[in-house]
Amino acid sequence: MTTPGSKADSHRDTAGGTKPMRVQVTDDGPYLVTGQVPLSRRRPVVSEYEEPLTWQTTETIGAPPTYRLCRCGASGRKPFCDGTHAKIDFDGTETASPSDYDARAKAYPGTGITMRDDRSVCEHAGFCGNRVTNVWKMVADTADTQIRAQLIAMVERCPSGALTYEVAGEVIEPDLRSGIGVIDDGPLAVTGGVTVARGDGSEEVRARVTLCRCGQSANKPFCDGSHSASGFRDAGMGDNAAHASTEP
Ligand code: FES
Repeated sequence: MTTPGSKADSHRDTAGGTKPMRVQVTDDGPYLVTGQVPLSRRRPVVSEYEEPLTWQTTETIGAPPTYRLCRCGASGRKPFCDGTHAKIDFDGTETASPSDYDARAKAYPGTGITMRDDRSVCEHAGFCGNRVTNVWKMVADTADTQIRAQLIAMVERCPSGALTYEVAGEVIEPDLRSGIGVIDDGPLAVTGGVTVARGDGSEEVRARVTLCRCGQSANKPFCDGSHSASGFRDAGMGDNAAHASTEP
């Protein structure tokens, strides 16, 4: 499936060809990333009430054109794979629905906007609400353009793409740079139309999607928020380039 705002750049290789940016989900193993996909660390910026407000990129991570990212959560070289999945007999069975976002999402009509929501891929980052309200309540009040604009801002910061919106029947997505953001203590945020290729041969090509890297999601390969309950921790280790695994 391809949605607006989801056309990734391609990396021109040394042979003069182009390699599309791609994340391959491997059987019971890591994410194989090809096409020189930029890698960085991201964290949410929160209010004094711990409400997520926006995103900050905290670090650019050096990585070779092809690299493997940990999917089991147990690597000693996160975010890169160090082969631990084989030692712990990681079960990475992909349990997510093979259907696409359009089939999974529920529509919430408002005034001048329709919000859509696919609960199955929500990673519970929390940008959809604050201590006063949330987007599901706000959509009924979108005749007020200030509320409509606030709802759009909140939906556009949803990293998983569970929430999207349409204006006049047209899907509008934030113009996100193609890359992978390693979220502190959370999933991989794949943005800008980098192809996610699943084991069954299907492809997810979206402006934003979050992939599980703790190994605990019940909706693999997508994050379902289980990293919080499982206490998953990884918030950076300095220069990881030397640890970038090209081995399975
Ligand atoms: S990173 Fe595994 S469930 Fe979120």
